Amino acid sequence: MKVGQNTEKESLRPFYPYNTEEIERLIKTRRSVRLFKKDDVPDELVERLIDLAHWAPSGMNAQPWKFVVIKNRGLLEEIRRATVKGLELTMKVFTKRQPHWRLMKLLVRLLKPSMYRIMDPRAMQGSRALLEVPKTDVLLKAPVLILALGNNGSSTALEDCSAATQNLALAAHAHGLGSCWVGFVEKFLPMNRRLCKRLGIGGEWFLATVTALGYPTMDYGRKLIERDPAEIVWIR
Ligand SMILES: Cc1cc2nc3c(=O)[nH]c(=O)nc-3n(C[C@H](O)[C@H](O)[C@H](O)COP(=O)(O)O)c2cc1C
Repeated sequence: MKVGQNTEKESLRPFYPYNTEEIERLIKTRRSVRLFKKDDVPDELVERLIDLAHWAPSGMNAQPWKFVVIKNRGLLEEIRRATVKGLELTMKVFTKRQPHWRLMKLLVRLLKPSMYRIMDPRAMQGSRALLEVPKTDVLLKAPVLILALGNNGSSTALEDCSAATQNLALAAHAHGLGSCWVGFVEKFLPMNRRLCKRLGIGGEWFLATVTALGYPTMDYGRKLIERDPAEIVWIR
């Protein structure tokens, strides 16, 4: 038999047996949920969502991910504080009032591209807004936080973890749960080495994505967040 030859005639069926409309609706009605009930999410359900997450594609099917599920309130509070501290520090350093702002931007761009992306004006504006409203909880008071750790040995780990994270969001939505991708944590938590060590971040593993998960307090119904028209370049 040739490599890649499909032995199962069944899987070659030319039609798509799922409810396309339902799937399209699921994709479009997923929303970033920022208000959660305090209720716990059963471990078995979290495991099921992570199982669905890890059916995502990955480069060479390497599956270079690992998931850390945090439900411990004390630890969640530590993560929240460390994130805000990292954010405050970064905002102090990355301010246009710095005398060598342009030079610094260039150096950061060359030496630490991940930090350079934080200097994106939209992200800076969001960060400032978060710090200005002291009651805002960067973790959105979610009862569960799921970290996707990417393996440093894989060249596609960040993309793979991101694909898994979107699967997780859709799976959560399908099960009546709400989720929100929390970029702030993934950017600023790594500044706290002690906490990272405790969470298994460092060495072989880097923090790729962070998802807040829980039961939503409100029904978002059919209200969609509009998207700009997708820019498509056709080359025929
Ligand atoms: C990489 C990434 C990071 C994000 N970080 C945050 C965050 O830290 N806090 C937050 O409230 N939302 C965060 N979001 C959610 C976006 O704000 C949200 O996806 C966007 O506004 C569109 O809304 P929708 O997800 O409801 O369609 C993030 C989304 C992505 C993809």
